[in-house]
Amino acid sequence: MEEPKKRMLSGIQPSGDLHLGNYLGAIKNWSSRVDEYECFYFMADLHTITVRQEPAELRRRSLHQLAQYIACGLDPEKNVLFLQSMVPQHAQLAWVLNCYTMFGELSRMTQFKDKSAKHKDNINAGLFTYPALMAADILLYQADYVPVGEDQKQHVELTRDIATRFNSIYGDVFKVPEPLIAKTGARIYGLTTPGDKMSKSVPDGCVFLMDDPDTIARKFKRAVTDSDTENPVRYDRENKPGVANLMNIYSTLTGKTFEEIEAEFAGKGYGVFKPAVGEVVIDAMRPIREEAERLIKDKAYLEDVYRKGAEHASYVANKTLRKVYKKVGFYQI
Ligand code: TRP
Repeated sequence: MEEPKKRMLSGIQPSGDLHLGNYLGAIKNWSSRVDEYECFYFMADLHTITVRQEPAELRRRSLHQLAQYIACGLDPEKNVLFLQSMVPQHAQLAWVLNCYTMFGELSRMTQFKDKSAKHKDNINAGLFTYPALMAADILLYQADYVPVGEDQKQHVELTRDIATRFNSIYGDVFKVPEPLIAKTGARIYGLTTPGDKMSKSVPDGCVFLMDDPDTIARKFKRAVTDSDTENPVRYDRENKPGVANLMNIYSTLTGKTFEEIEAEFAGKGYGVFKPAVGEVVIDAMRPIREEAERLIKDKAYLEDVYRKGAEHASYVANKTLRKVYKKVGFYQI
């Protein structure tokens, strides 16, 4: 008999529009996973309101993010795609897990420390207990693997601790998940701030999936490099972070190695190299943008996708939630 597929689950917050860093660092690799895994992906909108949002914007981004996932190759017939807030079991399990997560553990989370320093006027309880909600997201689906960026590893490790703690009291209720940390190769930095991860908060250095070709070309022309004129296109992450980042983008999209890229641009300056990287990105983004634009206009289709996704997710999540409710001593309806 065939082994059942292992389950994989990941969420992205609709806190900003998707960009090249999200695409190359994560989404690009998602569509091929369905051959090996059963995949669940969701828009983590419950997490997003830990920071103040404009409601209409949040709604727009959640839907557009769904459309963009599909445009990036995630087939909704093969992957379970949903909006977190449409599956009530997330909030329900999060409360239970809050009672099995320690104040001290949450206090040690670096993301909480960073975000509370950044939003001093809104250090709300949700921001603090956010990892318990994330644990609920993962444990509800009995996920084997959780692909995340390095910054989320600590949260997945806490999820493992919570699951282990709960299981040690009540027996085997939760599968203890493994984090899958993306390879460093696809870590993309800001075009104007090559020391930092590409981020929507620095829009000039951030290529959004929905940017038109002119905008992309302009952003690459203005990418920060260095004043090296001798042999400028060389991979040296330490001393030439801007160039290394551009080479990484070029390499990821063309499949060429750094040596091949160095040879291709030997004796050429940034005036040739930067627009060449821009062109490759424009060509890669064009079909995604066009397909996403088409889907965004097709509201009925997107509605159908998220309804079916939520139904499927809810069915799976409810099995776990019922077990948990029983274990902790609640009646079932
Ligand atoms: N916290 C994650 C982030 O900010 C998003 C997220 C929420 C998530 N729930 C998750 C990721 C569950 C993986 C699994 O990037």
